[in-house]
Amino acid sequence: MEVTRHGRLSTRCVHAGQRPDPATGSIATPIYQTSTFAFSSAEQGAARFAGEEPGYIYTRLGNPTVAALEEKLADLEGAEDAVAFGSGMAAIASTVTALVSAGDHVLFGSPIYGCTFDFLMEVMRRFGVEATPVDTSRTETVAAAIRPNTRLLLFETPANPTMRLADIRALADLAHGHGITVVVDNTFMSPFLQRPLEHGADIVIHSATKYIGGHGDVVAGLAAGPAQVMAEIRRTTLKNFGGIISPFDAWLLLRGLKTLHIRMQRHSENALRVARFLEQHPMVMRVYYPGLESAPHHELARRQMDGFGGIMSFEVMGGIAAGRALLNAVRLCTVAVSLGDTDTLIQHPASMTHAVVPPEARALAGITDGLIRLSVGLEDPEDIIADLDQALAVAGRASQP
Ligand SMILES: Cc1ncc(COP(=O)(O)O)c(C=O)c1O
Repeated sequence: MEVTRHGRLSTRCVHAGQRPDPATGSIATPIYQTSTFAFSSAEQGAARFAGEEPGYIYTRLGNPTVAALEEKLADLEGAEDAVAFGSGMAAIASTVTALVSAGDHVLFGSPIYGCTFDFLMEVMRRFGVEATPVDTSRTETVAAAIRPNTRLLLFETPANPTMRLADIRALADLAHGHGITVVVDNTFMSPFLQRPLEHGADIVIHSATKYIGGHGDVVAGLAAGPAQVMAEIRRTTLKNFGGIISPFDAWLLLRGLKTLHIRMQRHSENALRVARFLEQHPMVMRVYYPGLESAPHHELARRQMDGFGGIMSFEVMGGIAAGRALLNAVRLCTVAVSLGDTDTLIQHPASMTHAVVPPEARALAGITDGLIRLSVGLEDPEDIIADLDQALAVAGRASQP
């Protein structure tokens, strides 16, 4: 794919990957909702399968709407190419399995999204790939965990749900010194706020379900990186596992990306207001949000990110009982997993998104039973704060003996 980058990031959110439809002039990318593509002759079909002639064959192998999305995401992440999938987990599983073989070792950040943990620790293990969690917020801990057969380092920054940051540049330098491929799950930030490839990562992954789509109406995933690696993913795990995105869902993401810059700015502004409110609330013990000056990695956040995003977690006084009371008392915020939506979503990681992680591993990763994760939406921040305020009052009464 030719990588052309015109304009600043906000301009590229609007324009990248888009060109008027040659047949009709349609500005919005058409939804090519087709499973297959006609060949003009037997020879043309054979030439396309042989890779001698460019062109579409069958939607599992490529589709113009999906290609437009891939081009747009690659542009925004500063990658040579990108591949779209039917979910973030399909992106993670297909990328990891394309890159490792039996006998290899994978290091992964702790904490990490629950299903990523489960995939690496349970599924990959059955195929002879050993995976170990490591605290990627400490580069020296990662250095000590590298083995001669470590092939991949996969982490989130900020990490889900504790918001710990990892220094991408330091980890990439370390990993590359050992021939290890670095994969960063950039779901929490989106390319508008953080571009891991600029800091030395090799591959970036998204649960596009979140900020890329942005409206809570699609489940999808993306991976971006060197053209040769993306081609290998297409040739092997995308084609053979078949975890593709539908053309309609790709179109929803193209639509979502057009407003990514505006949404991320507003998510970040709202979240900072909410974090400051929570930080001074007597019912809240700790707030984990990289935008707070009190955050342990605030300096790294300023260096590595172009904004602090919409996600935070916090611990309420009274532990799990108070946390449950809080969740049951919210009226504007919605009790739901997922994040990055227009709507503010609140959830309890230990019993929801990270319930699949064994309690000992959760404790090691800092996921306490009293931890609440909040994805701050695009409502008026005063309304979100008012809702949390009344819900914290209910939680306070519930936790009194
Ligand atoms: C950081 C992160 N990565 C990956 C995923 C998995 O994405 P999906 O639900 O689209 O499969 C999630 C889901 O919540 C996530 O939060």
